[in-house]
Amino acid sequence: MTYILGIETSCDETAASVVLDGKTIVSNIVASQIDLHARYGGVFPELASRAHVEAIGAVVEQAVHDAGIGFDRLDAIAVTRGPGLVGSLLVGVNYAKGLALATGKPLLGVNHLEGHVYSLWLTEPSREIKFPVVILIVSGGHTELLLMEDHGQYERLGGTLDDAAGEAFDKVGRLLGLPFPGGPNIERAAQMGNAVAFRFPRAKRDESYDFSFSGLKTAVMREVIVPSASGDTRSRRADKAPPKLRSDVSISDVAASFQEALASALVDKTVRAAKSYNATEILMAGGVSANQALRQKMRAESSLPVRYPPLHLCTDNAAMIAAAGHYRFQAGLRNKLDMDVKPMWPLTSDAYEK
Ligand code: KG4
Ligand code: ZN
Repeated sequence: MTYILGIETSCDETAASVVLDGKTIVSNIVASQIDLHARYGGVFPELASRAHVEAIGAVVEQAVHDAGIGFDRLDAIAVTRGPGLVGSLLVGVNYAKGLALATGKPLLGVNHLEGHVYSLWLTEPSREIKFPVVILIVSGGHTELLLMEDHGQYERLGGTLDDAAGEAFDKVGRLLGLPFPGGPNIERAAQMGNAVAFRFPRAKRDESYDFSFSGLKTAVMREVIVPSASGDTRSRRADKAPPKLRSDVSISDVAASFQEALASALVDKTVRAAKSYNATEILMAGGVSANQALRQKMRAESSLPVRYPPLHLCTDNAAMIAAAGHYRFQAGLRNKLDMDVKPMWPLTSDAYEK
């Protein structure tokens, strides 16, 4: 019986969790900062690190307490080392180091993207995952298409060339005057909308497994905003304050058509990759994998099984960090107490490098 404590502070959730044997969540605490950042329409890094500092002690204590064990029963402490906001990462990593020093437990630095991957190992542990699998990670900061051939063995097939999928949702949400975060609010608006009302650009028909969402964002902008006196919509930026919306355009129709176009791009390339690499199944993870339209489309267009986490494991959490930490622990990896943070850390086959 291996108990791993996971700690996650890479972005806007302060989270801690205890996971048993890499697959059973014993406790899972997430203190979200969404309300704090909603006022600014996005994550505000300075505020994020301060909020992590305030929350982390109580969140970790609660996770260990809820697990019904003491710190002495833990086998290791896993913490998100990157990628993410440097100030936020430092809060979690420094806390984990202090804890490792005080308890004498090994420290494990986990890649946040690998954490999202391992949320799938917590999803339906009784149905074993057989390699190779193709994994689509879609979150606020990342859009990554990966081939996973074994634990810790990744090949990056492609990713976004500009905005991440969640970022596109958030920018378009802001453009449409919807609250932050855009993803769930666009999904809600889309439920009453017509997904074929607008034909927005989809995936490029090229051989690559890369994505680009900035053209889609611009196309949405052209449909919905009142052109300036010069008739130019291009000079306006979707990531600034919302411009004036046309009153004759249905927000729900735009939301539904945007969601359809974005999902179609993700699904086309993921399904094609899964076929060419003989994957046994398609795995999806990250905040955007909570999207029902995306899930349905992936299931409808793939002849392979499709697996995605329950909603509370799609968005950032520490159970996934503990689960990823478990496999690092089993592989004999340990990090030193002077471990640095890695704000930019692509997930590649050297994820297990020291
Ligand atoms: O994985 P996550 O919690 O944080 C990052 O690591 O970035 O993902 C957050 C992102 C946000 O951009 C949010 O708008 C998006 O996930 N998201 C969704 C949905 N729920 C969250 N996007 C589409 N549909 C949803 N239901
Ligand atoms: Zn994430």
